[in-house]
Amino acid sequence: MNRHLLSIGDLDRSEAISILDTAFELSKISDGAMKKLPTLRGRTVVNLFFEDSTRTRISFESAAKRLSADVINFSAKGSSVSKGESLKDTAQTLQAMGADAVIIRHSASGAAARLADSGWISASVINAGDGTHEHPTQALLDAYTIRSKFPELKSDFSGLKVAIVGDILHSRVARSNVLLLKKLGAEVTLVSLPTLLPVGVESWGVKVSYNFDSILKNVDVVMMLRIQSERMNEAFFPTAREYSRGFGLDQDRLESLKSKAIVMHPGPMNRGLEISAASADSLQSVVLAQVSNGVLVRMAVLYQLLGGTPLNVVSNSKEVVN
Ligand code: CP
Repeated sequence: MNRHLLSIGDLDRSEAISILDTAFELSKISDGAMKKLPTLRGRTVVNLFFEDSTRTRISFESAAKRLSADVINFSAKGSSVSKGESLKDTAQTLQAMGADAVIIRHSASGAAARLADSGWISASVINAGDGTHEHPTQALLDAYTIRSKFPELKSDFSGLKVAIVGDILHSRVARSNVLLLKKLGAEVTLVSLPTLLPVGVESWGVKVSYNFDSILKNVDVVMMLRIQSERMNEAFFPTAREYSRGFGLDQDRLESLKSKAIVMHPGPMNRGLEISAASADSLQSVVLAQVSNGVLVRMAVLYQLLGGTPLNVVSNSKEVVN
């Protein structure tokens, strides 16, 4: 595997599957008595977050701690960034504290690649979401969740139909998911208003639909996306009510899905806008499984990037780290 994880494009198919398989092995260990593994003891992982996060930051922190790494959490709010300190100086300060991996979230597309390619730091860089560009660990945890709900697929998603619905234009989750789902063989349909689809989407190798109702009966996975109001500086749809009417997952649409179809959302959810409370909390919803699986997948990514002790050695070990 590459030294950094900046994009799903950094992974070939076998590397992506290897991360999912490693996460599965880690799930067996995490389910046992030994919740914490010594594999990254002595390593330091820095969470460098210039944008807000609940799930990604906490799950990377949890993942690193379960592997016994030391964790430094940096949030731009309340830091010297507000005094004008640059990305370079901030990153080099954290490197001077001994960072082995830097997990970066930033509002600028390309910020993670800038950090990795700059030569400013020697640590591995993991992209935890850069602007509207990519969020690779979200796509990996989504694929892991899909595979756990459709175990017959193993690592070949051929025949699986996935609809990604909503604000595709501003979604790094959609971009990373399209790349990974296609790599694994799934058929992806993007469902949205023309104004919320990126220019050039026809070159993404996916289907496009402007009619949510027309695809409901055929899909195995419905991935709802958050309307990203914070990235919208103009009106992309007439009203919230009209958006919900056309593209929200409400009770009627939930009931139209196949009984085995699953409902996903990366979070945070705008309940009542892109997804109704009943859909979010339904038996078909796997939203909380996505969160749990995020810890396992991020453990696998840290483990592979930082070259931890081989898992079979760790899993046979009697060592428990408190
Ligand atoms: N899915 C996701 O990235 O959530 P957070 O913004 O809470 O990290």
